[in-house]
Amino acid sequence: MTATEPVFSVRDLWKVFGPKAERIPGNKEYAALSAEELRARTGCTAAVRDVSFDVRKGEVFVVMGLSGSGKSTLVRCLTRLIEPTSGQLAMDGEDVIAMDKTRLRELRRHRAAMVFQHFGLLPHRSVLDNVAYGLEIQGMSRPERRAKAADIVTKVGLEGLEDRRPGQLSGGQQQRVGLARALAVDPQVLLFDEPFSALDPLIRRDMQEEVIRLHREEGRTMVFITHDLNEALRLGDRIALMRDGGIVQLGTPEEIVANPADDYVRDFVRDVPREQVISVRRAMRPARDGEGESGVALKPDTLVSDAIEAVARSGAYCRVVDNGRTLGVVGYEELLAVVAGLDDETEPKEVAAV
Ligand SMILES: Nc1ncnc2c1ncn2[C@@H]1O[C@H](COP(=O)(O)OP(=O)(O)OP(=O)(O)O)[C@@H](O)[C@H]1O
Ligand SMILES: [Mg+2]
Repeated sequence: MTATEPVFSVRDLWKVFGPKAERIPGNKEYAALSAEELRARTGCTAAVRDVSFDVRKGEVFVVMGLSGSGKSTLVRCLTRLIEPTSGQLAMDGEDVIAMDKTRLRELRRHRAAMVFQHFGLLPHRSVLDNVAYGLEIQGMSRPERRAKAADIVTKVGLEGLEDRRPGQLSGGQQQRVGLARALAVDPQVLLFDEPFSALDPLIRRDMQEEVIRLHREEGRTMVFITHDLNEALRLGDRIALMRDGGIVQLGTPEEIVANPADDYVRDFVRDVPREQVISVRRAMRPARDGEGESGVALKPDTLVSDAIEAVARSGAYCRVVDNGRTLGVVGYEELLAVVAGLDDETEPKEVAAV
C-alpha cells in the first residue's frame, strides 16, 4: 500500500432493496425517477444510489443526512454486512466484492471495527470481557486478551469498572465499552453508526472529545455517521452529505458551509455559526497600496471568529500570510460579511504576492 492509497475506494456503488433489484443500477429510465417514483414504479428502494468516494488514510470521514437517506446502508456496504447490488469497492487497493467468506471475515475481525448506536454489548459479561470479545473471536488466549483489554479500558477512561456488567453502567460508560471493544482489535479503520445519538448532550460532548483525542493520538481512519450537523462539523475532516441514497456534496466542513451545493445542503447548514467554520482564506480581499507589507499576520486557516479578535486588537486590518507571502488582508468589512452570510458562493481568493 502506498502512502496516498485510500483506505476505502468506492465507485458507482448501488444498494437496491426490493424485487429484482439488479435491474435498477445503470438503467437510464429508472435513474431519472425520484426515490418515491422509483418505489411506486418498481417496489424497490435505492438506499445507496450510484455513490463514489474515497476514504483517505487517517481522516475522519463523516456521512451525514436526514433519516432514511442511506447512511447506515452505505457504511454497512463497506464491509459487506450489507451486500451491494452493484459497483466497485476496494480496501487498501484490494477488491472487497471479490473477497471470499474467509477473507471477508478477516476484514471484519481485524481491519474494520464497528461501533453502534445501541452499544451492542453482551449483558452477562463484565466490562473487561466485553472489551476482550473481539480478541476472543480472533482466537487470542484468555490471559493475553484480558491484559490487552485492560490497557484499552484504561485508555478510554473506564478503569475501576472492569468487573461491572453493562447494565450497571451509564449510557456514556456503555458507549465507552463499545468504543474500547472496537479499539481492542486494533483495526485500521473504525466505523461509527450514530454512536452517540442516544446519549445526553454533555456526555455526548465528552465522547466526541474522546474520539477527537483518539484520532489525534493514533491517527486512526474513521468513518462516522451522524445526522447531527454540529457533531459532523466538530469531528469531520470531510463530510459526505446524503440525500435519497446519493451524495449531494462532499467536502470539508468549511467548503460545505461556505459553498452549499444546493438548497438541501443550504438548509442543513443554515444555523451554523459561520465565523467558527470559515477561515480568513475565504474572507480576505486583495491587499491595497502598501497594506501587504506590514501589520499583524494571520495564517490562512485562522477562523473568522479568531480573526475578529485579532482585528479588534490591531485596530485596522490583518494580513493573511502563508510561508512569508501575503495572500490578502481582512478587516471588519470582510469578516462581518462572513458572519452575516453575505459571502455565500465565494471561492478562496488567491492574489499575487505583494
Ligand atoms: N432491509 C431493508 N429492506 C428494505 N428497505 C430498506 C432496508 N434497509 C433500509 N431500507 C431503506 O433504505 C433507505 C435507507 O435506509 P438507511 O437505514 O440506510 O438510512 P439512514 O440514513 O441510516 O437513516 P437513519 O438516520 O434513520 O438511521 C430507507 O428508505 C430504508 O427504509
Ligand atoms: Mg441509520
